[in-house]
Amino acid sequence: MVNLSVQLAPKHPRGLLLANPVMTASGTFGYGTEDTHTFDVQRLGAIVCKGTTLEPKEGNRQPRLAETAGGLLNSIGLENIGVKALVKEKAPIWASWRIPVIVNIAGETVDDYARLASQLDGVAGISGLEVNISCPNMKAGGAEFGANPDSAAEVTTIVRKATSLPMLVKLTPNTSDIAKVALAVAEAGADAISLINTLKGMAIDIARRRPRLGNITGGLSGPALKPVALYMVYEVAGAVDLPIIGCGGIITAHDAIEFIMAGASAIQVGTASFPNPRAPLDVLEGIEQFMKKEGINNLAELVGAARR
Ligand SMILES: Cc1cc2nc3c(=O)[nH]c(=O)nc-3n(C[C@H](O)[C@H](O)[C@H](O)COP(=O)(O)O)c2cc1C
Repeated sequence: MVNLSVQLAPKHPRGLLLANPVMTASGTFGYGTEDTHTFDVQRLGAIVCKGTTLEPKEGNRQPRLAETAGGLLNSIGLENIGVKALVKEKAPIWASWRIPVIVNIAGETVDDYARLASQLDGVAGISGLEVNISCPNMKAGGAEFGANPDSAAEVTTIVRKATSLPMLVKLTPNTSDIAKVALAVAEAGADAISLINTLKGMAIDIARRRPRLGNITGGLSGPALKPVALYMVYEVAGAVDLPIIGCGGIITAHDAIEFIMAGASAIQVGTASFPNPRAPLDVLEGIEQFMKKEGINNLAELVGAARR
């Protein structure tokens, strides 16, 4: 038996222990409760649910998805059921699960994040928060909170005060110095850092002479994102002393192992679940096979292997 377990919040009194390092990426796996999932979701390390806002949201204008070379552009616009329905309808289901569920939260103001965090605190079935700081800061002209270290730290500080849960902060690649943002977030009290969210992009339909997305721009995910994500994980792993969760273009176990060797303690599978709903489980089984083949008993031996 290989030991795949990961502690994602070693500095937190309660911790956040995962039986294995494979998580779902927010927005690509619903709430984990849908009957469309083709495998036992409780075999994964943890589920990260769809981004949750204070009020329910219908999302952006259609079309919201456009395929690009090696990638996917999305402008879903955080369509979700809102925090009250999540607490009432989803958390009771999660409370009976043996794996942790992490709620991804999104706000337009710092105060939104604080209110979300306090409404989710102490709710049975919720084991942690993932703070999505890729959202536009409406009071600062719409720049992403995570684009600069100060606003990233401001959100982290306010959520830290509002929650007793382990807190992951999810970084955006749309910034000039990801390591500085990571450091600011670490100092402001994050338990772990997940990265990356989607990279801003667009596509144009030349027959219609119009952008392909109703929202004009969107976020790029999928294989095209992987080298950028891997580089950023490597950078951040060298800058902060916190567990890192790698995400961006992970399709196979090979991809996941690259992120782990770059310094990630856990990984998230996102877009890969659309063409292959079993992708997270395939990645998990592939990691396990690789470890057996290489004679590695403990996943921790692989974390940061490419850095040494
Ligand atoms: C359709 C779609 C919806 C997403 N929704 C969210 C979200 O609500 N919150 C969030 O933090 N990230 C969201 N993401 C970003 C993913 O969680 C992930 O960070 C990104 O897609 C990169 O990973 P991937 O290449 O494996 O998909 C979404 C991505 C996609 C494709």
